[in-house]
Amino acid sequence: MHGINKVAIIGSGQMGGGIAQISAVNGFETVIYDLNSDALTRCEGFHNKLFARGVEKGRMSDDDVAGAKAKLNYANDINAIYDADIVIEAVIEDVDLKKKIFAGIADKFTDNQILATNTSSISITDLATSVGDAADRFIGMHFFNPVPVMKLVEVINGLATSEETTKRTIALSEAMGKVAVPANDRAGFVSNRVLMPMINEAFYAWMEGVAEPEHIDEIMKLGMAHPMGPLRLADFIGLDTCVHIMDVMAEGLNNDRYRACPLLKQLVVAGRLGNKAGRGVFDYSK
Ligand code: CAA
Repeated sequence: MHGINKVAIIGSGQMGGGIAQISAVNGFETVIYDLNSDALTRCEGFHNKLFARGVEKGRMSDDDVAGAKAKLNYANDINAIYDADIVIEAVIEDVDLKKKIFAGIADKFTDNQILATNTSSISITDLATSVGDAADRFIGMHFFNPVPVMKLVEVINGLATSEETTKRTIALSEAMGKVAVPANDRAGFVSNRVLMPMINEAFYAWMEGVAEPEHIDEIMKLGMAHPMGPLRLADFIGLDTCVHIMDVMAEGLNNDRYRACPLLKQLVVAGRLGNKAGRGVFDYSK
């Protein structure tokens, strides 16, 4: 059993917000922490929209919504997270920032409390160096966007992760309605090791004029039964995140075949980061 009553999440962006939502909906006392109170307000607004949609679609009753909301706390005081049984960090894919956050909180999480990261590519063993003696309670818990819809949690042990930490994390993932699948601690794990080179190749195909972006996506959707084409998916993930993940794999796997396509990098430089910026490969401003 997971022995978890309270879940804390650090970072109220797309991923953190989604994790907080499924945590509360599945009955866990939940606190979502962010330094930025505007981001927390946006996150709460998004939750309310999704709850209203759940009621409209008959997936949730008014009582379910009231129950989930009562479990959800939005905090911009870090002290609100320290009594959680697990903290799940979900900030941007920046190794130094993640290490700084864990180094700042590790000594407050003692006993049986788990320290988890939602990193999509960075080595768990490397991140665990920031938590000192707590490395046995440190683990990768990689969710997928949109979190309430995607069934997978990729669970990654670092070198020092204890068996008990893994078992509790898997049990928690299941209690949140997910399927936990293990992967080893190599840059990009399995999900991004396979996904990102496909996305990168779609940018090369566009850059080399093999087809227009709409046609590249249409070919992959209709021919391969992908729910979204790779270029629209890149916009959805965030083009900056795609570049970060490629960089982590190029460095961590020491192989130039994971270098980000120049066109992908150029769009990031131009601020065309995808859905969140209103424009990436495609235009979302309307
Ligand atoms: N949060 C919660 N629910 C959402 C949502 C969100 N952000 N976006 C869509 N949904 C729900 C909708 O509410 C809808 O359900 P209802 O109609 O019953 O309410 C359902 O998902 C389908 O949505 P839509 O009808 O609007 O659109 P769709 O059928 O095109 O599906 C999609 C949208 C689920 C995103 C689908 O296109 C899809 O599965 N795309 C691929 C997503 C994917 O590959 N994600 C993984 C990205 S990689 C990653 O996250 C990790 C990483 O490390 C980079």
